[in-house]
Amino acid sequence: MAGYLASDARKVTTHRLIEMKREGEQISMLTSYDYTMAQLVDRAGIDVILIGDSASNVMAGNMTTLPMTIDQMIYHAQSVVRGVRHALVVCDMPFGTYQVNATEGVKNAIRIMQESGCDALKLEGGVEIRDTVRAILDAGIPVMGHLGLTPQSINKFGTYAVRAREEAEAEKLLSDARLLYELGCFAIVLEKIPAALTRKVCEQVQVPVIGIGAGRADGQVLVAQDMLGMTNGFSPKFLRRYADLSAVITDAVGQYVADVKACNFPGESESY
Ligand code: KIV
Repeated sequence: MAGYLASDARKVTTHRLIEMKREGEQISMLTSYDYTMAQLVDRAGIDVILIGDSASNVMAGNMTTLPMTIDQMIYHAQSVVRGVRHALVVCDMPFGTYQVNATEGVKNAIRIMQESGCDALKLEGGVEIRDTVRAILDAGIPVMGHLGLTPQSINKFGTYAVRAREEAEAEKLLSDARLLYELGCFAIVLEKIPAALTRKVCEQVQVPVIGIGAGRADGQVLVAQDMLGMTNGFSPKFLRRYADLSAVITDAVGQYVADVKACNFPGESESY
């Protein structure tokens, strides 16, 4: 592969991520749902690209991630995989595809891997999905765990507030994290939990812990459209905006509209 990051042209692997934790190198992770964004994010040198089921909110305008289907996730994942050369590509298993039982979970996991060409899968939950995680790992598929605020369970939680502030929930999260590590997950995402609890998890598992609204961890993940300032009306405390693309796009489109209305586009040089 020519071009950027000439010193590190290797494709990122799950083993490389574990090595990075050991070496104290922070892991960068962002979502992408389409080919164009995946190419841009990959070229910028990101370590991990997640095809999040947050595509349900960001791409489709749904209130939750629950409506996302396996066919829709595979479509997004195929588009992302075509755009990526360097990053490890992880795809969310959508709601309903792994909660019924291990047999169905492993069948759906194999389908996503085969049809999308992604590198690994992410599943939400701990002890409740133990048998399914084990079966997917036994099929040779790398699994990333996801604990804390798990958006597929939003109807059970009833709120997007910070999770595991209470001791009992914090203890369960710690024990779920240790379980996922012992089962063989290569990384664990922790979403919206106290920073002190994240530090404990980082100490107790030997695989990378990737935080979102969880304070310092072994790495960080954000939704690309959020950190690029493309989404309006979503401003949680944990979100740092690195650009205001919403304004850039609205201005550019406004100029285009004005040019078309004023017959300033196309010009001579833009015509055949
Ligand atoms: O779906 C998603 O975007 C995610 C990240 C927020 C971790 O799961």
